[in-house]
Amino acid sequence: MKLKIAVLPGDGIGPEVTNQAVKVLKAIASEFDHTFSFKTADVGAIAIDKYGDPLPDKTLDLCKSTDAILFGSIGHPKYDNDPSAKVRPEQGLLKLRKELGLFANIRPVKAYKPLLDKSPLKKAIIDGTDISIYRELTGGIYFGKKELSEDGNTASDLCEYSRIEIERIAHLAFKAARARKQKVTLVDKANVLESSRLWRKIVTEVAADYKDVDLDFLFVDNAAMQMILNPKQFDVILTENMFGDIISDEASVIGGSIGLLASASVGETHAMFEPIHGSYPQAEGKGIANPIASILSAAMLLDHFELYNEAELVRLAVDKSLKLKITTPDINSEFDSITTSNVGDFIEDFIFNPNDSNRNFKNIHLGQSTII
Ligand code: IPM
Ligand code: MN
Repeated sequence: MKLKIAVLPGDGIGPEVTNQAVKVLKAIASEFDHTFSFKTADVGAIAIDKYGDPLPDKTLDLCKSTDAILFGSIGHPKYDNDPSAKVRPEQGLLKLRKELGLFANIRPVKAYKPLLDKSPLKKAIIDGTDISIYRELTGGIYFGKKELSEDGNTASDLCEYSRIEIERIAHLAFKAARARKQKVTLVDKANVLESSRLWRKIVTEVAADYKDVDLDFLFVDNAAMQMILNPKQFDVILTENMFGDIISDEASVIGGSIGLLASASVGETHAMFEPIHGSYPQAEGKGIANPIASILSAAMLLDHFELYNEAELVRLAVDKSLKLKITTPDINSEFDSITTSNVGDFIEDFIFNPNDSNRNFKNIHLGQSTII
């Protein structure tokens, strides 16, 4: 298969982790005889520094002309601490989602066996968790009208949803549930919000097309509690933009590190793949950033193009790296000198030699982090 991939490394640890994902995709292309071509462009704070725009036209045009986008992360403390900044890195990501119509954000959450003791939650609670969060991504309070009164003392953000926005992601969530454990949980705040009541009504209507899938409802405050009390009850979670943002960060605790959570953002014509973690500026350039979320996002890219065997091999390689503790310090207290690129190298090597993957890595835990 031929794929044109736009690579948007962004800020902070974005470039480091994205490099590993590209390394892995190149290995897959070579093993399976695909032609993947990569073109890089700026987004986020780095694009503001260079062009005064977090999403320059050049970047947007590249994204529009490619089959898929591999996104790193955006954000910089100089903007986080300045609420009055008019131009912000996040605007680049939000505009990209909107311009490309990426209305569904899919965030898988899994408890990995070798990492069960890395989570602050009890093993018995998280063991077996396997959730797919379907977060609406181009509507709601993120994109509603924003107002600040002239005197600067009153502000509002409108949370608006239309039937079509709810229906299209609901269909995707039900289809996904069909191939999983046949359960969709709609997370909302229908006891308070009109927009949530519309979600309930429309999702209930959509559910009629999927009689084989169970639908239940949870208020978001209760869902936040259930997520850590009993995450195994969930299969597919369907929710609006902001609730999905919050619930998915919370859910990342189950896996033991936010550095493991991948995501796919899909629309009618475009698709983007990105780790859910942010730019983690404190870690920039130190080689400690976990590349697994980015690598698993690359696996989601492969799935998106129905390259299932390829995606499976990447996931197998990730599982192996977790098992052998060839992982970065966030999930590896024993061997804390393994770097971002060590992990990428191991996964690349596994793809080339799945049956003898440990060949070049036998000594990695013998006090040295250098790969032979
Ligand atoms: C995410 C991020 C973004 C969001 C930010 C960076 C705008 O937190 O992808 O979850 O809120 O959607
Ligand atoms: Mn978020």
